[in-house]
Amino acid sequence: MIFALFGPPGSGKGTQAKVLVEKLNIPQLSTGDMLREAIRQDSPLGSQAKTFMNKGQLVPDSLMIDLIRARIEAKDCQKGFMLDGFPRTVAQAEALDQMLKAQGLSLEKVLSFVVDRQELVNRLSGRLVCSKCGASYHEVTKRPSKAGICDICGGAVIKREDDKPAVVETRLETFLASTKPVEDFYRAKGRLKEVDAQGSENEIFQRILNALGRTPG
Ligand code: AP5
Repeated sequence: MIFALFGPPGSGKGTQAKVLVEKLNIPQLSTGDMLREAIRQDSPLGSQAKTFMNKGQLVPDSLMIDLIRARIEAKDCQKGFMLDGFPRTVAQAEALDQMLKAQGLSLEKVLSFVVDRQELVNRLSGRLVCSKCGASYHEVTKRPSKAGICDICGGAVIKREDDKPAVVETRLETFLASTKPVEDFYRAKGRLKEVDAQGSENEIFQRILNALGRTPG
């Protein structure tokens, strides 16, 4: 099964992806995580991406399309995969369709997470992330058991550079201007499913399974 988690910054894509990986036994292809890893490794892609990410802007399509093309050719994607944070522009969506079609595949569903703007700001302003495994926490609603240490892998729990208030505003604007139109692209193809992404993490997980036509987990 090939599907995408789609939604604004802070809508909970990464949080749900981590649980879905366990349930569905397919990899999560998070372009945000891939770019942060490239920055950590100080690679040429990382240094190019960093300037855009720290300002809350999108990394150019050509870089993103090459990155995802290489990733979906990997062996672990043969039995399906879940996209998280890609496609983010109509040009990325068109390129993805073409690269999958060339392999006789298609993106079956795009789950669009719906969350109020104020809730997005609250989530992002308090978000903490594990610098090692990417698990998400929150300063108020979901603290790690030991301050600063990931419950899952023991990695350091930190704040993301792009969760500063001014950058969050730019990311939300960028979503509306450049990413929201991707919804219409998939709606026209009958592949878009909206998911109410407010409520407890488990309630949302059950809604996602329902949207995917899977049995409750
Ligand atoms: P990326 O890492 O993809 O960021 P994003 O899409 O902005 O999404 P986030 O990671 O901020 O949020 P999320 O939806 O995963 O929410 P989370 O689960 O963490 O991209 C970063 C940057 O990389 C971009 O700005 C861009 O520059 C670049 N980039 C990446 N992909 C690109 C592409 N394809 N093209 C061009 N550029 C690209 O949850 C957020 C918080 O909410 C957490 O604290 C969590 O604990 C909490 N939370 C989760 N669920 C709930 C709930 N149900 N109730 C209460 N709180 C909750």
